[in-house]
Amino acid sequence: MSTNKESWGTRVGLILAMAGNAVGLGNFLRFPVQAVQNGGGAFIIPYLISFLLMGIPLLWVEWSMGRFGGKFGDHSTPFILDNMTKKRLWKYFGIFGIFTNMGVMAYYTYIESWTLTYTIKSLKGDFLGMGIDDVGRFFDSYVDLGSGINLPGWGLLAFVVTLTLNIYILSRGLSGGIEKVAKIAMPLLIVFGAFLAVIAITLGDTGQCTDCNSHVGLNFLWQPQFDTLANPKVWLAAAGQIFFTLSVGMGTIHCYASYVKSKDDIALNAMSAGWMNGFVEIVLGASVVIPIAVGYLGLDWVKENAGFMMAFKTMPYLFDQFGSVMAILAGVAWFGLLFFAGITSSLAMGTPWMGFVEDEFDWSRNKAAFTLGLVILVLALPTILFFEKGVFDEYDYWTGTVSLVVFALAEVILFAWVFGMDKGWKEITGGADMKVPIVFKYIIKYVTPLFIAVIFITSLFKPLNGDLSDWTQAFSQLSSGEGWPWANDSIINQVFHLNTGIEWFNADGATDMFYVDMSRFLLILTFVGLGVMIKIASNRRKRLATNKVEA
Ligand code: PHE
Repeated sequence: MSTNKESWGTRVGLILAMAGNAVGLGNFLRFPVQAVQNGGGAFIIPYLISFLLMGIPLLWVEWSMGRFGGKFGDHSTPFILDNMTKKRLWKYFGIFGIFTNMGVMAYYTYIESWTLTYTIKSLKGDFLGMGIDDVGRFFDSYVDLGSGINLPGWGLLAFVVTLTLNIYILSRGLSGGIEKVAKIAMPLLIVFGAFLAVIAITLGDTGQCTDCNSHVGLNFLWQPQFDTLANPKVWLAAAGQIFFTLSVGMGTIHCYASYVKSKDDIALNAMSAGWMNGFVEIVLGASVVIPIAVGYLGLDWVKENAGFMMAFKTMPYLFDQFGSVMAILAGVAWFGLLFFAGITSSLAMGTPWMGFVEDEFDWSRNKAAFTLGLVILVLALPTILFFEKGVFDEYDYWTGTVSLVVFALAEVILFAWVFGMDKGWKEITGGADMKVPIVFKYIIKYVTPLFIAVIFITSLFKPLNGDLSDWTQAFSQLSSGEGWPWANDSIINQVFHLNTGIEWFNADGATDMFYVDMSRFLLILTFVGLGVMIKIASNRRKRLATNKVEA
């Protein structure tokens, strides 16, 4: 449908770009924290099962949908979906495939900018000799925590620089921009990660406290525990991590894959990128923050303090224990790695918008990139300025957690049941350089949709903390007429604020909920705006088609 003639330069470039898309802050910051908060080794089995039954199937589905759309010249989910069915409403599900990326990009690029600042500061040796509290205080002042409305001078500047860099690279196109960056960033990231993993693994007992031993941290993450398999809370967390880390359910993979040539392999490519992500996550991601932190602060401290800020609030102090030269090397490796991981992902998040406006409105690449920058700036400012009010978490909740599940459920139903699994299977296996096990035909048709549906329903109704005992308690409470004890992060409670009621103002003025809900309106507005653009695009297509017939 478009005159958009871009494509990937080489196969290695494509795989590295796709791996770069998947490998991100999620692998190094989100994964270890999720693992710790969900019982360490207890997390790993649900995680691997979710990878097999949901992650891999979705990778194949999304890569093949993307390549299929590319045959018609479509590079964003609305019209990729539209090609797969005669029903016109499906394309509106495609809003998610652009919206999610923009919402995530807004807060993700902000963290990415922290990693840039921290790399530079590590290189300059600014953290040398700082105590743990000093490092923590630096972070707080950097994001201007504790002041209600956050106006971080340097933080804002670093953010604008990071965003501009992303926009510039995007304006250079796929092979001239993204692919070049991925070819440098991905190998360096692996080298940096391996360097840090070796340090962490060989650290062992530091004698700082009774269990200050990096091996205790590794054991905690790796010793599988089977008793938590029946815990819905762990399953939700594991499935959520699989979504986020593989970038499935987001529309990004569709977009990248739509630039693959129609006869090229996707089956093996999808596996290469997916397993590379798995390796970086399980082997490298698990071997840095947690073992090093346990090595100096002990397992109990880590369990209590695990959060993605730990990477910024404690790591520079821990590296300092290695002596100044190693501290600088480790600091640059760690924050440099995070920056590379981040930028190859945020670039991916920018592409669905670009593909969409280039296809539908014939915008130039520069115009597409520039407008993306503006929208992301507008979306990001609330997360930066009202960070403390919970706006950041609000974005992460809707765009980084809930949307993915909704879109994945829709697309897998479309693929297996509307488009049809026989046709779908041909799309997956067409041009394949590997034999795709036939069992996946049935997994994609029955197991994956069911799996995602259960995840979705469980997140809608999650009670209390979501543990198994909480579910049984909730049902007995319900049957005795006491109502359902909603978890704060259940979708239904989030939508209606059931647990707290709506309070936008109190005696002290606007409440946190006010800021959070206003940012929610901004997200809804973005969503609706994209819907309107799709409607306009679809009318434009009709006009162009009739003009063609008349001419
Ligand atoms: N998968 C990336 C990570 O693990 C995040 C991401 C989300 C990338 C959406 C692209 C699109 O950090």
